[in-house]
Amino acid sequence: MQDTLDFIKKKTNNFVPEIALILGSGLGDFAKNLDGVRLKYADIPNFGTSSVKGHSNQLLFTNLAGKNVVIMQGRFHFYEGYPVDQVVFPIKVFARLGVKKLVVTNAAGLTHKDYAPGTLMLITDHINQTGVDPLRGKNDDTLGPRFPDMSEVYKKYLMEIAKKSAKNLGINLAEGIYCARSGPCYETPAEIRMLRLAGVDAVGMSTVPEAVVANYCGMDVLGISCLTNYASGVSLTKLSHQEVIDVAKKVQQKFEALILDIIEHI
Ligand code: HPA
Repeated sequence: MQDTLDFIKKKTNNFVPEIALILGSGLGDFAKNLDGVRLKYADIPNFGTSSVKGHSNQLLFTNLAGKNVVIMQGRFHFYEGYPVDQVVFPIKVFARLGVKKLVVTNAAGLTHKDYAPGTLMLITDHINQTGVDPLRGKNDDTLGPRFPDMSEVYKKYLMEIAKKSAKNLGINLAEGIYCARSGPCYETPAEIRMLRLAGVDAVGMSTVPEAVVANYCGMDVLGISCLTNYASGVSLTKLSHQEVIDVAKKVQQKFEALILDIIEHI
């Protein structure tokens, strides 16, 4: 951790980010044209790199709407084989750098047809079906408590801000429960029926480990899913990562406008 912090502080001239933004599959272009200091994951001590298409593997330290922000273009997924510690390491680094709020985004599949693919969804709560708790292991009491409360991981006041932004921009913002599974397999139709019965609206392979650790570190979390597809068995179409990326790209502009407005107001 100390090596990582020393490296980042030196390269960014002691930049203190207030907000961290994680860009999900196909949403990474958001940061393409922004100015700031870019650090490739491969150059940052103890960071992994994501091998997944649609993830560009860099941190961008920048100012957005007057706020100091660190943007993660691409994340490490559990399904890539990283230990969960590695998946959440950036969040712990952000906490040490001074980040107080996390805006986390992802691409997700819909367990029902109440919403249409291409819709953005506010994550109101989550179910962790990855099979691991990212805080398993010895606790660092200087980062957070051994048994963190999880009753409001996704903060209501941030959701209100997001809803207001969406309304002002004329963007339809759905709300729902996100379930993370480890992946990399997409789900079976039977699994999706089970999740639907459990109240899950969107299913994906990320976000929950990061949100858990951010909450533990005392950050306020806002989560937004880009609902890219009907999940397995909800429609007759077979699932493909290309479809996920293509749909995420189509909503990119809407998504960018929403994120910018939210960041301005939080
Ligand atoms: N299932 C799991 N993860 C996903 C999906 C899905 O349908 N779509 C995008 N990420």
